Amino acid sequence: MPIHTVRDHSHSDIEDIYSTRLSEHGLPKYRMPEGTSEPHAAYALVRDELLLDGNARQNLATFCTTWVEDEVKQLMTEAVDKNMIDKDEYPQTAEIESRCVHILADLWHAEKSWDTIGCSTTGSSEAAMLGGLALKWKWRARREAEGKDTSKPNIVTGPVQICWKKFARYFDVEIREVPLKGDALGLRPEDLRDYCDENTIGVVATLGVTFTGVYEPVEALARELDAIERDLGLDIPIHVDAASGGFIAPFIQRDLVWDFQLDRVRSINASGHKYGLA
Ligand SMILES: Cc1ncc(COP(=O)(O)O)c(C=O)c1O
Repeated sequence: MPIHTVRDHSHSDIEDIYSTRLSEHGLPKYRMPEGTSEPHAAYALVRDELLLDGNARQNLATFCTTWVEDEVKQLMTEAVDKNMIDKDEYPQTAEIESRCVHILADLWHAEKSWDTIGCSTTGSSEAAMLGGLALKWKWRARREAEGKDTSKPNIVTGPVQICWKKFARYFDVEIREVPLKGDALGLRPEDLRDYCDENTIGVVATLGVTFTGVYEPVEALARELDAIERDLGLDIPIHVDAASGGFIAPFIQRDLVWDFQLDRVRSINASGHKYGLA
């Protein structure tokens, strides 16, 4: 059965709008209408405006999922009235979310996948905020325990997606985005020593740089951070922004080591709405 987000109108129902009295009145754009609106007409008007967006199925540019099975739409429609953040009211939704977290932890080789912490977010931007905050708070707790200054945190990255700049601005962290040198397309291990110091809360490695799709070399970055710890005593964790690669690498590049197999990788984000549904 086809699923429609508002009501199940047959094609002829929708066409009817344009030859009936419903079509005689426009709806105001920037204020609430005076009276009630026919759901039928409101649906047709909004649907028609959305045609101006272009055709998502032809959009390969933003690596978002552009097709899903009808069953996915059906589940989404059936869950649209639930406030999923209210875990007490909807414990089974929370349980399914928790299973997904552990399935992903297992997919990404967490040693104790059943004992990992994670959650769903609105997208990888929000996930980056949470990953970044975890890095900041861990760093701050460590510094406070040592009686050291916590006023100047920084985060070291390659050419990151804009969400990391937002993270830095919202949460008062200096972003050290290493400029690309020569023919490099991402963060290189040899860059790290110049940019990391005792105030570095973490390094972001991107698995699928937004602009090129290139995977930054997470394993080599981790090895270099191991060497930095050995030489300078700085223990700097990695967050992997696997917004697009997190659902590709485990299936297509199975031998690539980039995830929780590396001790230094403490957190990972990936987007269900990018390749997660593919
Ligand atoms: C590497 C990377 N991180 C984060 C994001 C932000 O993801 P979202 O749009 O889901 O917030 C993107 C989106 O393009 C991305 O490519």
